[in-house]
Amino acid sequence: MRTIIYYFSGTGNSLKIACDLALELGNTEFLSDETEVFSMVRVMKGGIDLSADRIGLVFPVYMFGLPLIVSDFVKKLEAESGHWRGEPDKYIFAVATNGGGPGGALKMLQSRLETKGLSLDAAFSVEMPGNYTPLYGAPSEDKQKILFENASGKVKEIVAYVLSGERGKFEFSNFFVNAVSSVFNSLVSAKIPGMDKKFSADEKCAGCPVCEKVCPADNIKIIKGKPSWNHKCQQCLACLQWCPEESIQYGKKTAGRKRYHHPDIKLEEIIQK
Ligand SMILES: Cc1cc2nc3c(=O)[nH]c(=O)nc-3n(C[C@H](O)[C@H](O)[C@H](O)COP(=O)(O)O)c2cc1C
Ligand code: SF4
Ligand code: SF4
Repeated sequence: MRTIIYYFSGTGNSLKIACDLALELGNTEFLSDETEVFSMVRVMKGGIDLSADRIGLVFPVYMFGLPLIVSDFVKKLEAESGHWRGEPDKYIFAVATNGGGPGGALKMLQSRLETKGLSLDAAFSVEMPGNYTPLYGAPSEDKQKILFENASGKVKEIVAYVLSGERGKFEFSNFFVNAVSSVFNSLVSAKIPGMDKKFSADEKCAGCPVCEKVCPADNIKIIKGKPSWNHKCQQCLACLQWCPEESIQYGKKTAGRKRYHHPDIKLEEIIQK
C-alpha cells in the first residue's frame, strides 16, 4: 500500500516524526509498502497528490489548535478530494506534535474534515520538546533525550496501528479542553499574522540571510542587511530558532533564552519553499 505523508514543521520536530513514520511504514516485507513525505508548504503551490491509499498529516500544535498553514492545507485537501469520496478504503491519519498540551488540535482537524464529508481514521499526539521561546527556553539535553526516546516508541505504536488497517483510535483531549481550546484558538487565529510586530534583530545580526530562507510564509525580507517582517506570519518561530547568531528576539523576554531545533534535522531540510 502506498502512503503519502504531508508535514508542516518550523523547528524540525514534525519533520523528524514524519520521516521516522515513513521509514517504519516502508519497513515491511512488501515492496509495495512505499511511503513518500512532502512539505505542505511546497505542495500548496500546486496540486495535492491524493493518489495514495493512505494520507498522513503531521504538524505541530499551535495555541492549542492547528497552525494556519495546516488549516489552509485542509481547505485545499477538501477542495481537491472530490473524486476521492467514492473510495471508502482511503485511510487518513493525523499526528500532532506538541510540547505536552495538545489542546483541541486533533479534534479541530476531525471536525473540519467531517464538515466536508471526509473522515479522519486515526489521530495521535506525540510529545516533543516545546519550542515556544517567548514563554520558555528549550528543555535540557537530558529531558530532550527522554522525549526523543518516548517519541520513537510512539512512532512504532502509530505505525503498527496504521498498518493493521484499524480505524477509530483518536488521542483527543477531553471535552472541556477541546471546547476551551476551540474558543481560545478562534480568538487568537486572526491575530497571528500580525504577531510578528514583536520580532526584532539585535546587533548580532550578520545579514546572512537564514531567517529569510527558512520562513515558510515568505514573511521576511532582508533590507539593508537586516530582516523585516511583513505581517503574514505563522508564528512557527523558525526564524528565531534557526538564526545562527541567536540575534532574533520576540519582545523583551527571549534574549539569553536557550534556542531549540531538532538535532537530527538540518537547515537545508527545514527550508520548505
Ligand atoms: C506559536 C506556537 C504555539 C504553540 N502552542 C503549543 C500548545 O498550545 N501546546 C503545546 O503543547 N505546544 C505548543 N507549542 C509547541 C509545539 O507544538 C512543539 O514544540 C512542536 O513539536 C513543534 O513542532 P515543529 O518543530 O515541527 O515546528 C507551540 C509552539 C509555537 C511555535
Ligand atoms: S538569520 Fe539572524 S543573522 Fe541571519 S539575517 Fe536573519 S537575523 Fe540576521
Ligand atoms: S516570520 Fe518567523 S515566525 Fe513568522 S512565519 Fe516566518 S519564520 Fe515563522
